Amino acid sequence: MGFVNSCFSRKPIALMAPEGEGVLRRALGAGDLIMLAIGAVIGAGIFGAIGTATAGEFDAAGHLIRSGAGPAIVFSFVLAAFGCALAGLCYAELASMIPQAGSAYAYSYATLGEVVAWIIGWDLILEYAVGNVAVAITWGVYFKSLLAGVGVQLPDCLTTGYRTALLSPDPAVHGLLTTAPHVGGVAILVNLPALAIVALITWLLLLGVRESSRTNNVLVVIKLIVLTLFVVVGFSHIHPANYHPFAPNGFSGIHHGAAIIFFAYIGFDAISTAAEETKNPQRNMPIGILGGLAICTVIYIAVGVVMTGMVPATALGVADPLAVALTTTGLTTLSTVLSLGTLFALSAVLLVFQYGQPRIFFSMARDGLLPKWAARVHPKYRVPWATTIVTGVAVGVWAMIGDAGETYDLTNIGTLFAFVLVCIGVLALRFKEPNRPRPFRVRFVWPVALGGVVVCIILMNGLPHVTWVRFYVWLAIGLGVYLLYGIRHSVMRRRAAGEVIPDSGESW
Ligand code: ALA
Repeated sequence: MGFVNSCFSRKPIALMAPEGEGVLRRALGAGDLIMLAIGAVIGAGIFGAIGTATAGEFDAAGHLIRSGAGPAIVFSFVLAAFGCALAGLCYAELASMIPQAGSAYAYSYATLGEVVAWIIGWDLILEYAVGNVAVAITWGVYFKSLLAGVGVQLPDCLTTGYRTALLSPDPAVHGLLTTAPHVGGVAILVNLPALAIVALITWLLLLGVRESSRTNNVLVVIKLIVLTLFVVVGFSHIHPANYHPFAPNGFSGIHHGAAIIFFAYIGFDAISTAAEETKNPQRNMPIGILGGLAICTVIYIAVGVVMTGMVPATALGVADPLAVALTTTGLTTLSTVLSLGTLFALSAVLLVFQYGQPRIFFSMARDGLLPKWAARVHPKYRVPWATTIVTGVAVGVWAMIGDAGETYDLTNIGTLFAFVLVCIGVLALRFKEPNRPRPFRVRFVWPVALGGVVVCIILMNGLPHVTWVRFYVWLAIGLGVYLLYGIRHSVMRRRAAGEVIPDSGESW
């Protein structure tokens, strides 16, 4: 096998047996899938990122980084949802054929070969771990506003990350760099609540806690109640004057808005991974994916319409825009209730992603692309403890000093890139293995998959230049790690070279 060819050799789908308990029971209907989608999706995007998407973003010197959509944010939601729907259908086809944990990483190993799988696995760190940094920071901000609502003011220097202060155009926040206590010439600015929630979630995961479908349903209800309250009460505080201008930055603002608000849809790919447990997937998968996306989009649009009607769009460039819209309008009690509900909603998202990341590392380690210690499973709790702790420490420390806006962007570019590769993967597998059974088969696969590629690339193009630079650097580092480590330790390559490597037999 030539060197380049071998980098693209694929893991046979037949080797990707379902893990753990063997074949899973087909128990989920379309309604369950929709609940699953809402549970995984509604989080920091609608409670946090919507602010920047609407108001735009400025650097600390007041220069425009990207324009905002203004009240036309509703169109940004539709554009982002369209890309997600196309990619979601492709995800579902691959997930139904390759029922293995590891998501897009496993799919691309089977369709596009090892090096692409590695790149996706590396890239998914941006979706899961970096995404959680953004969610944790937003959690911290809502925690602060909840306590403020009941009269407890936490010091700014213990609730604001260093990078948030550094990047903020708001003099009060940027000024913290000067007024905060200094140690060795460095301002001590940390978001302690963000660190605390990540530590708590990591601890729960080490004990083997995972979200059950009953907890998910309770959390979905809480999220829906909170957002419905916001819409119903906020509706009577709309001032039509706030809708002018409706699209202050034209298509460019809507486009930039879509690129950031895409974050609000991340996680719906989780439902495609339930293909193996779905009754009649050919019917229920598209209903679940498209229905879940449609419901979330309707909710998001309602929130967007009410929020931008309550206060001028320019006032919403904050990390907790829904709470700010309520307090600015004098609805302080509701703002406190909303902050409490948000904390639950975001904790659920944190749990899903902190659960997912170690398992992607685990899949990669089991394939030999990461060191063996990353595949260690605790004998009693049956969790991949080493990667759970590494993920917890990395996410916690970054959330403590990081900035939400920056991390939304990185998460989005990484996830969109994974979507692009998944859409290509579906087409590749239709060519390479046309006769393999597909429990769920995308209809009109060419327009759907190619449309998914195009819309996701359009969304990626709406992200700032600096995000692209960071993304390239991240991919280059990943490729370096693969060339220095993965390529030599890959189980598939070593087997192809005649080495006898027993299956680890581990499951989780
Ligand atoms: N969609 C998830 C959220 O908005 C990641 O928090």
